[in-house]
Amino acid sequence: MEREKQLALFEKGVGYKKIPYIAIGGGKGGVGKTFVTYLLAKRLSQRGKVLVLDADMGLPDFYILSGVKPYRYLEDYFEGRATLDEITTEVDKNFYLISPRSGNDYLLSLDPKRAQELLNKLDEFIAGSYDYFLIDLGAGIHKINQLIFASVDYPVLVLNPNIMSIIDAYGVIKTVFQNYRRTYFYAVVNQVRDKGEYRKTVSVLDKSAKSFHKNIHVEGVGYIPYTPEVAQGEIPRKLYERADDILTNLLKGEYKKEEKGGFWSKIASLFGKK
Ligand SMILES: Nc1ncnc2c1ncn2[C@@H]1O[C@H](COP(=O)(O)OP(=O)(O)OP(=O)(O)O)[C@@H](O)[C@H]1O
Ligand SMILES: [Mg+2]
Repeated sequence: MEREKQLALFEKGVGYKKIPYIAIGGGKGGVGKTFVTYLLAKRLSQRGKVLVLDADMGLPDFYILSGVKPYRYLEDYFEGRATLDEITTEVDKNFYLISPRSGNDYLLSLDPKRAQELLNKLDEFIAGSYDYFLIDLGAGIHKINQLIFASVDYPVLVLNPNIMSIIDAYGVIKTVFQNYRRTYFYAVVNQVRDKGEYRKTVSVLDKSAKSFHKNIHVEGVGYIPYTPEVAQGEIPRKLYERADDILTNLLKGEYKKEEKGGFWSKIASLFGKK
């Protein structure tokens, strides 16, 4: 069957349960994307079953932060050596991870038809087993980061109060708007001193984005204070409270049940181009 027809059929969907897809991104390296993803996943796992996909094409390190060693990796699934169950690692109760082994840009050179089949299976797997799907993105505005950010239900930018980080988050918004016309973004400000610094940072980002295009909106959904204990691998209770607050703000809106088949078809369109 032609690829176009396959995609159209797939996009109709097969009546899957629709679950929230949340991507954690933001242009700058080291702002805390992985840490924020971990905090959110940990708290969401009290409400339902959570799957995190480490989509950092440069240096996947979610497994290091969560202290687990995957038995098999994303590559093993794409290359036919492992099943989806085998590449899924339990981090904690109700909290699971799929990680690439290392920088896996080469995966995108896979045959697009095969990739679509594998992604369809991944889609079914997620819909059949999980309640929340989080994607930890790497730094930078690679095509795959843009596309994921443009296609999920909740694109969450993580940034710090410093100007370089705001400029990079602005760069992501601008690119995703220009290429995919996405206008609504969420922001979490990490490593802040206080709530005032958080509000100021979101306001600067939102105003800058609006001056680029009036339809763009950045909604601040919360902040995480700079916490020295984090460097020692500790997570004080107050950070989990911040994460709960972020989740309440993020998920409060009427959740638009978009076609998830559409999401994976868009991702599949990246394959075979290299
Ligand atoms: N609120 C915080 N307080 C103190 N340290 C933090 C905080 N958030 C993150 N860090 C530390 O900052 C470092 C970078 O965090 P993290 O790896 O989550 O960033 P990242 O944005 O995912 O980086 P990359 O762009 O490399 O993927 C880590 O050492 C992490 O422990
Ligand atoms: Mg990271």
